[in-house]
Amino acid sequence: MSINSDQPLADLDEWEADLIRRYPEPNKPAEDFRNYGENTRPGVKEFYQLNHRFQTYDFVQSKRAQFVPLRHKKMGVWEAMEYLNELVDDSDPDTDLSQIEHLLQTAESIRADGHPRWFILTGLIHDLGKILCLFGEPQWAVVGDTFPVGCAFSDRIVFPEFFAENPDSNDARYNSLYGVYEPNIGLSNVTLSWGHDEYLYEVVKERMPEESLYIIRYHSFYPGHRESAYDHLMNEHDQKMFRWVRAFNPYDLYTKSDARPDVAALRPFYEELIDEFLPGQLDW
Ligand SMILES: [Fe+2]
Ligand SMILES: [Fe+2]
Repeated sequence: MSINSDQPLADLDEWEADLIRRYPEPNKPAEDFRNYGENTRPGVKEFYQLNHRFQTYDFVQSKRAQFVPLRHKKMGVWEAMEYLNELVDDSDPDTDLSQIEHLLQTAESIRADGHPRWFILTGLIHDLGKILCLFGEPQWAVVGDTFPVGCAFSDRIVFPEFFAENPDSNDARYNSLYGVYEPNIGLSNVTLSWGHDEYLYEVVKERMPEESLYIIRYHSFYPGHRESAYDHLMNEHDQKMFRWVRAFNPYDLYTKSDARPDVAALRPFYEELIDEFLPGQLDW
């Protein structure tokens, strides 16, 4: 397929496939989940080049102003899942899971491990913020590892060399270790790069428990939860809550199996679960 400069990934899952390559499941031969060789695919590399160039402090503020008022759509959770499923891509329908199947597989493996209902629902909804793509947002402003803006970019973020093209790297307000922040200021006071995590957090923040909100808001913050590269901005409460972010991560990354979930059969259980925490229409 042709790689277009604005949308370098063949589909959004290509970013996640690369995460599994970077962070292979412990105790399992990494090859099981490697769809390709040692080197990152060109599309993934181009994707990060755009992401790191354009995710500036000002860019995130402008996206917050555009989307956080939640005036784009009114939709229930199941409807949002079906809407997300419209994400058309060039991937192979025989082997690649649809978005709805990824959400159900994640939720089902959390459920199989006997976790609380809010945790199962978190698995079901965690990627719904990707509907940003259907509002015309480019891939680099929807997916990708997230990282703080407004302070120096860590060299433990994937492809750190691409931050040379980010104007904030040369801005004295933003390029010191703490930038606009203070030591251990707490993540609720830190602006992360814009994407599906933060957007969904805004949609459900009044209605899900705090542990769930941490998972939703920081599940793509690999420099934080996998690399521990931002302990200097996190406070004790963040560290405690990151236990849940880290507990969730394997369900997100390593439950992609070929066994397709039976969407129709699972629907009644999940409709009831949705009604318990997130009934009716939500503002998107
Ligand atoms: Fe995600
Ligand atoms: Fe996911």
